[in-house]
Amino acid sequence: MQFSEIKTLEDTFQLATYKKMDIAVERGEGSWVWTSDGEKYLDLYGGHAVCATGHSHPHVVKAIMEQAEKVLFYSNLVYSEIRGKAAEKMVSVAPSSLTQAFFCNSGTEANENAMRMARMATGREKIVSFTGGFHGRTADSISATFLGKYREIGRPNVPHHVEAEFGSIESLKAIIDDETAGVIIEPIQSMAGVREAKPDFFQELRNVCDKHGAVLIFDEVQTGIGRTGNWFFAGSELAGGTEPDIITLAKSLGSGAPVGACIVNERVSSKIKLNDLGTTFGGGMLAMAAVLATLEAIEQDGMIENARAVEQHLRDVLIDVDGVVSVRGKGCLLGIEFAGHCGPMHAKLLENKIITGTSSDAKVLRLLPPLCVAKSEIDMFAAIL
Ligand SMILES: Cc1ncc(COP(=O)(O)O)c(C=O)c1O
Repeated sequence: MQFSEIKTLEDTFQLATYKKMDIAVERGEGSWVWTSDGEKYLDLYGGHAVCATGHSHPHVVKAIMEQAEKVLFYSNLVYSEIRGKAAEKMVSVAPSSLTQAFFCNSGTEANENAMRMARMATGREKIVSFTGGFHGRTADSISATFLGKYREIGRPNVPHHVEAEFGSIESLKAIIDDETAGVIIEPIQSMAGVREAKPDFFQELRNVCDKHGAVLIFDEVQTGIGRTGNWFFAGSELAGGTEPDIITLAKSLGSGAPVGACIVNERVSSKIKLNDLGTTFGGGMLAMAAVLATLEAIEQDGMIENARAVEQHLRDVLIDVDGVVSVRGKGCLLGIEFAGHCGPMHAKLLENKIITGTSSDAKVLRLLPPLCVAKSEIDMFAAIL
């Protein structure tokens, strides 16, 4: 099909909820995608931080195909070897205090369940989140999203959500109390323009939560699964070694197969009883095959080390590029700050067949490439810049 026909088809039969780039992706391999017109694009956006292992990684594709031939799905009412192995592998790469998994289908659902667990574990209702964090579009998650118009879109909001200033422990101390069930934080605020906080902020955050008996939730939907050059932000040097009570995940976890998860510590798991949480599709075999193969591929191909090397390389090459004010972020979650609006840069890069992302900070261009992106591919981007 020609691009114009595809565009007409989608625009006619799909609600227009996204401003789309004028390309139709047909095929992908590594850091590259091919369009319906046969053009090749360098994908430094990774399908919005999802395609961590690169497009259609052979190990992930094989695992999904083999699983599909055995059984596509059975619910959580039966045991499954692939579900057990995926949970074991995910827990094995998580910080040591986080010992059990709950699978669902998306990032927002992972956050809904995490906040519900915080309320169940404490018997309280209040949730603190931070200005600029994005946690999803379902009722509780959007109510925790103090960024732009999201809470407005999500009205009526779930009650008992309050906001603290990202990176300010004093601001947190001013609103947290002994009625607080949980504190949820996006450790690097990607959508807000790749905003970071210091490691000692996360250490203090842990101390303040402990003082008030609040459950600490790291929303690692973007930062998790190797993206920052660590398996997780939690427990890494970026967090000053801080381990939360719950980590939430989605995006990269299934290389594109829709899957979300919470990983919890014993403080939380000891409070969760039969029937407290549930989902039909969560933990389905096809998604679990994708999770296990994704984690194996990242490990086998040394992608976490690569994410660190690529970040350093990007920082080195961008030093010579006029107009770049700063480079924010870690690993393959990077924001390039320009002096002016980055929109024209985004459009010009697309004209030159490089896909990048914008953010809610008009000056910050976002890169969320596959973790296998090569230094030579970063050089192509720098040359166009
Ligand atoms: C940090 C973060 N949390 C939660 C979400 C929501 O994830 P999903 O779109 O899978 O519901 C996103 C999505 O962009 C995100 O970036």
